[in-house]
Amino acid sequence: MNHSEAMHQTPIDIETVDRLKRESGIANVGKSSIRELVKLVVQIEKATNSQFVKMEMGVPGLATPAIAIEAEIEALRSGVTAVYPSIEGIDPLKKEMSRFVKNFLNVEVREEGCIPTVGSMQGGMAAFMVANRCDKAKDTVLFIDPGFPVQKNQLRMLGMKYETFDVYNYRGEKLRSKLEKYLQEGNISCIIYSNPNNPTWVCLTEKELQIIGDLATRYDVVVVEDLAYFAMDFRVDMSKPGVPPYQPTVAKYTDNYLMLISGSKAFSYAGQRIGCVVISDVLFKRRFPDLKRFFPNDEFGKAMIFGPIYGLSSGVAHSVQYGFAALLKAVNDGKYNFVEETREYGEKAKILKQIFEQNGFHIVYDRDEDKVLADGFYFTVGYQNLTGEELLEELLYYGVSAISLSTTGSKREGIRACVSQVARSQFGILEERLKMFNENHKVDKAVAQSTAL
Ligand SMILES: Cc1ncc(COP(=O)(O)O)c(C=O)c1O
Repeated sequence: MNHSEAMHQTPIDIETVDRLKRESGIANVGKSSIRELVKLVVQIEKATNSQFVKMEMGVPGLATPAIAIEAEIEALRSGVTAVYPSIEGIDPLKKEMSRFVKNFLNVEVREEGCIPTVGSMQGGMAAFMVANRCDKAKDTVLFIDPGFPVQKNQLRMLGMKYETFDVYNYRGEKLRSKLEKYLQEGNISCIIYSNPNNPTWVCLTEKELQIIGDLATRYDVVVVEDLAYFAMDFRVDMSKPGVPPYQPTVAKYTDNYLMLISGSKAFSYAGQRIGCVVISDVLFKRRFPDLKRFFPNDEFGKAMIFGPIYGLSSGVAHSVQYGFAALLKAVNDGKYNFVEETREYGEKAKILKQIFEQNGFHIVYDRDEDKVLADGFYFTVGYQNLTGEELLEELLYYGVSAISLSTTGSKREGIRACVSQVARSQFGILEERLKMFNENHKVDKAVAQSTAL
């Protein structure tokens, strides 16, 4: 228990929270992984017969579109479960992904470069395994952070090195010299970032993407552009196939790129674990003799397919490929507006941010250069001078769960809140709990000040 709770009533029983924290064996709850925290929260809920406002895990809160489910059922009935899918992906999905990239990014990528993966989680792992091995001298991945913590775990599992910096103080033109500082060292193989960004919802501007693209070409590094939240910058309407504005991308500024396009959030398809790696035509065909150290083929695209995609899972489950292909076809044909469906996240974020701000919290990452940040799947908040880890731990007594920014490569204090699992019916409860949190902490601050005097 934190000292501040000692004097106050909290919505969740303090002793039970403390006991379960101890029993969980997690050394530092503020630093725990998302999955560890989820487990602890479920235990607290059970033991205290309470319900948390869960903001820690990015679980899509919407139903998978029926088009996809129907197509999967049809594929299952047709007998695809009995046979291995081809590892480079089924033709209809490759075709629709290539069309999707043209329609929503205005970028041309041949079908061969669109390779289904078991979610972008596998796509990222596969990307590291190839992009970080193209050149013996370049053995380090550079994260434009904050970022998705599991990608660093993947590098640890692979025994690979990484460098990271928090983009907060390097927006706009300042990004150039910061990146160059790393690239001049000569050991960086690839640069990775998500856009929109998990955890901050920062959206890199065209100027910033151009800087990244120019430098990627100049220093010959691969950009791994993680588009897990495709077209979810709701400040602009990117929902019409073949009509600008498009999802901003580094692909406009360099040929050295691959993109990770996930089905999970933009298409509410997380349960079936589907995404695609999309490799630029030029990079796909490029030969890197050093790849031969690990893969039978030194051509980038072939190394990807016959290396990690084959070796990790032998491709992606057959039926979901049909489901995703049917969904993308409807999207490409203008028959299904996937962006409209996810707009609910942005609308909830706007209200949730207000609830936090009205109760003494502040938004930590608040701008894209001169623009106010978009409302989307995540936002970041801080409270007075509490560290993110302290804030996360204290909020547990108030039945609110989130993750600390310190686990994401952020140098700022605060937590990431995810809107997807918060039902609109919980807004009132959240407001009450944060109000109580704020009042209790105001009292603490006053007590601390009077003792200091
Ligand atoms: C930035 C980012 N990349 C990748 C992923 C993983 O996506 P998938 O569910 O497709 O494996 C996530 C999921 O939260 C994410 O936020």
